[in-house]
Amino acid sequence: MITKKDTVLVTGCGGMLGEAVYAEFKDICKLRATDIDLNAPWLSYLDVRDTKAVTAYLRRVRPNYILHLAALTDMEYCERHADNAYQTNSIGVENLASYARKHKIPFLYISTAGVFDGEKDRYRENDQPNPLSVYGRSKFIGEAVARATPGSVVIRAGWMMGGGPKKDKKFINKIIKQIRAGKTTLQVVDDKLGTPCYTYDLARSMHYLLDHKKSGIFHGACNGSGSRYDVAKELVKQLGLAKKITVKKIGSSALRATYFAPRPRSETLVNINLKKLNPKLTRDWKVCLSEYVGKFSWLSR
Ligand SMILES: NC(=O)c1ccc[n+]([C@@H]2O[C@H](COP(=O)([O-])OP(=O)(O)OC[C@H]3O[C@@H](n4cnc5c(N)ncnc54)[C@H](OP(=O)(O)O)[C@@H]3O)[C@@H](O)[C@H]2O)c1
Repeated sequence: MITKKDTVLVTGCGGMLGEAVYAEFKDICKLRATDIDLNAPWLSYLDVRDTKAVTAYLRRVRPNYILHLAALTDMEYCERHADNAYQTNSIGVENLASYARKHKIPFLYISTAGVFDGEKDRYRENDQPNPLSVYGRSKFIGEAVARATPGSVVIRAGWMMGGGPKKDKKFINKIIKQIRAGKTTLQVVDDKLGTPCYTYDLARSMHYLLDHKKSGIFHGACNGSGSRYDVAKELVKQLGLAKKITVKKIGSSALRATYFAPRPRSETLVNINLKKLNPKLTRDWKVCLSEYVGKFSWLSR
């Protein structure tokens, strides 16, 4: 069980998931929240690519838990900057995991549904990954590094929802930004399937797994699944805009110039291992979306 005596290091804590992880852990331990993007006063600088700086930081802070969130998450950026993607998402993991191995402390790594190729409709924890993109490959190497660390936890997340208007870089905020810009017709792909993943529930699952000294691979998405179109349609409904905004289905080929990184047809995750431990850890994605929409003032100027 994590207590006030424990020093918990979180990398990449300035991001979407980091916001929820900070809220989950800040009052229960000595939290060391780090990132290269210092967008909050509680963050300190740590670049996971910088082996020397990471080693010096670890020697000084001496964490007894490491939660490794840091990653380059923009898939197109990763395609164009493969060296940086592998430095950050693969080698960066080893820079932290080697300390966990040496000091025999718990190491938790966040991976992605993007390690799968999408040939199947839905993915269980023991299905074979076969990543299609630079991002997916770099994260899969990160998984391998994490798994070489005895007692490690690997959680594969789905389509991330969290962070609110300021930090959410992904689908929910991209749709809301279009609405704020005055669009009344949204064109959304219906040939990409997946499972939204609510950062606040994921942070709770992380805490649960560490408190219960669990290890292995877990899927940490919400319950249920849908296409990007289904998520956009539900979002518009929950914003109370169903009568004003039309959501139109398009094929992903129409957006290939912008979203050129290869994406699996299906990134749908089923959470077998997490549910076996505690079925209450994940909730239906529509319930989570409703909570997320209610948590922030999305449309105010
Ligand atoms: N977002 C998703 O849809 C998604 C889905 C599945 C899994 N995941 C995984 O979930 C984890 C958390 O991601 P997130 O969703 O919270 O995305 P995020 O908002 O992009 O957070 C990642 C954070 O890591 C930082 N970072 C990048 N390079 C770094 C470096 N060299 N050293 C230290 N920090 C660095 C990022 O800074 P910059 O903003 O400056 O790059 C960002 O603040 C990642 O491991 C990601 O691969 C994400």
